[in-house]
Amino acid sequence: MQIDKNLILLDHPLIQHKLSLIRRKDTSSILFRQLVNEVSSLMVYELTRDMPTQLVPIQTPLESMMAPVIDGKKLVFVSILRAGNGILDGALCVVPGARVGHIGLYRDPTSLQAIEYYFKMPSHMHERDAIILDPMLATGNSAISAIARVKSLKPRSIKFLCLLTCPEGVLALQKAHPDVPVYTAAIDRQLSEHGYILPGLGDAGDRIYGTK
Ligand code: URA
Repeated sequence: MQIDKNLILLDHPLIQHKLSLIRRKDTSSILFRQLVNEVSSLMVYELTRDMPTQLVPIQTPLESMMAPVIDGKKLVFVSILRAGNGILDGALCVVPGARVGHIGLYRDPTSLQAIEYYFKMPSHMHERDAIILDPMLATGNSAISAIARVKSLKPRSIKFLCLLTCPEGVLALQKAHPDVPVYTAAIDRQLSEHGYILPGLGDAGDRIYGTK
């Protein structure tokens, strides 16, 4: 569902159902990880709906024909460490040929600003469509920094994919990068004073990796 020009709510019932299970506090790490994988595959499936295809000659058992194929290598998934890696596996299940970039950012607990500690992207970014992955678009600080870094390499296009966001995160991101579409499975009520999404799902990284 298109909420506004650059905000798309992925409201497929399967995505919504799995997200509800993910949110529950008694969902174990094993199940949480599995569900995040499944939801991210479904979300990437929706998000790649407009991927270009080209016709190539193939041979069926009966005839030759021109058949549509995508060039998966043109796509780069950019994972914002560490929670972005939780979405990455599901994304790669759908587009196994995609390239992968990583951005290491952590939130300074006091200022909530994003501090970069790692950045590695595939070559020839100007030929690629980038999908930046982070389960939570909360304050927007990490997403804004990550998008700015990826933009500096001039990819063909950029999309941002998260499981959950809130009005504060969407507004901040749209103010900084009005040209980048945000795809999300939910827009929650609000951001807490500690930078958590409410009602949310807690700390995505801790829940994926069982580190709490
Ligand atoms: N990051 C998380 O993991 N959870 C939130 O609610 C906000 C940011």
